[in-house]
Amino acid sequence: MLSDRFGRSIDYLRVSVTDRCDLRCTYCMPKDFKGFEPPPDWLSFEEIGRVVGAFARLGTRRVRLTGGEPLTRRGLPQLAASLAALPGVADLSLSTNATRLARHALALRAAGVTRLNVSLDALDREAMCSITGRDSLPSILEGLAAAREAGFDPIKINMVAMRGVNDSQIDAMVEFCIAQRFMLRLIEVMPMGATGQDSSFMDLAPVQRRLQLRFGLRPQALELGGGPARYLCTPDGAVSIGFITPLSQHFCATCNRVRLSVDGTLYLCLGQEEKFELRPLLRGGASDAQLEQAIRAAIELKPEQHDFGRQPEKIIRFMSQTGG
Ligand code: GTP
Ligand code: 5AD
Ligand code: SF4
Repeated sequence: MLSDRFGRSIDYLRVSVTDRCDLRCTYCMPKDFKGFEPPPDWLSFEEIGRVVGAFARLGTRRVRLTGGEPLTRRGLPQLAASLAALPGVADLSLSTNATRLARHALALRAAGVTRLNVSLDALDREAMCSITGRDSLPSILEGLAAAREAGFDPIKINMVAMRGVNDSQIDAMVEFCIAQRFMLRLIEVMPMGATGQDSSFMDLAPVQRRLQLRFGLRPQALELGGGPARYLCTPDGAVSIGFITPLSQHFCATCNRVRLSVDGTLYLCLGQEEKFELRPLLRGGASDAQLEQAIRAAIELKPEQHDFGRQPEKIIRFMSQTGG
């Protein structure tokens, strides 16, 4: 088992398979577009498989595929199938914007993806247009329906809550998710890249109290997913609503994860710059044992917690580089 300097077990690897996306969510992507073709510095599927295999031998059980938008990487279901088949990988999940999910849901399910998290920030078409930079709502709703049809359950919906942008949509999203049996998570916007630095930040504690009263939510006893969300559930227990509060109430003391970016950099914390380059080892003939040794050494670099909010002038990479 991998364990860091602060006694945390690291058993959750997030793998970004591209930093590109077909949407331009204001809080995530830089404005420039670089095309979807893999440049030479991107890890191949074989190289990603080697890294995930090494993590799995070191005790990692949960693997999440992220982006950018992972479904813009050609052949993603094949990669998923090869990762799901690695000994030790017990939970393979995907975070997606769902615009291409209708095309891929069945193949992903057949490949062994067990859990899906989908970004959806509003149910209003215009609002989604201005947040994502495209008329994305119809394809996302189609993707969600296809995922349901393919048998994914639960399906989690990620809503980044932003004051003056989509806060008026929160209650409608709760009602929609309760009616559709989707698990909703409200997320505080993190200052990444050029985003999240403005007045749109919303502390979710008062929102949580208000929703608790309005919908009669109660604490959720079950552990749901191994991620940072804290959950409440509806009175009948059928639908859970999670709160991801990296700024107002961070969860770094229980952090269990690191991130592999598409160019083979291991980022030790979402909100810090500590990193370790694995690509030179992968392309320099390192053995599996050397790779595992390097991963152990990298975990030693994991910082205690993020720095969001404490150094507002510090610019961290864009979210699309590490996939949230
Ligand atoms: P599961 O709980 O396994 O379903 O996944 P998850 O919630 O960890 O993953 P997802 O990709 O859906 O991320 C949801 C939100 O949580 C995104 O805004 C992520 O940026 C944020 N998040 C995930 N992990 C961390 C973390 O370690 N630190 C911080 N600060 N935010 C995180
Ligand atoms: N702050 C908080 N969440 C973010 N996401 C992307 N960028 C940010 C940000 N700056 C979320 C998206 C997606 C998840 C993987 O990360 O909503 O669902
Ligand atoms: Fe872990 Fe860093 Fe996220 Fe905190 S901000 S939970 S330390 S990855």
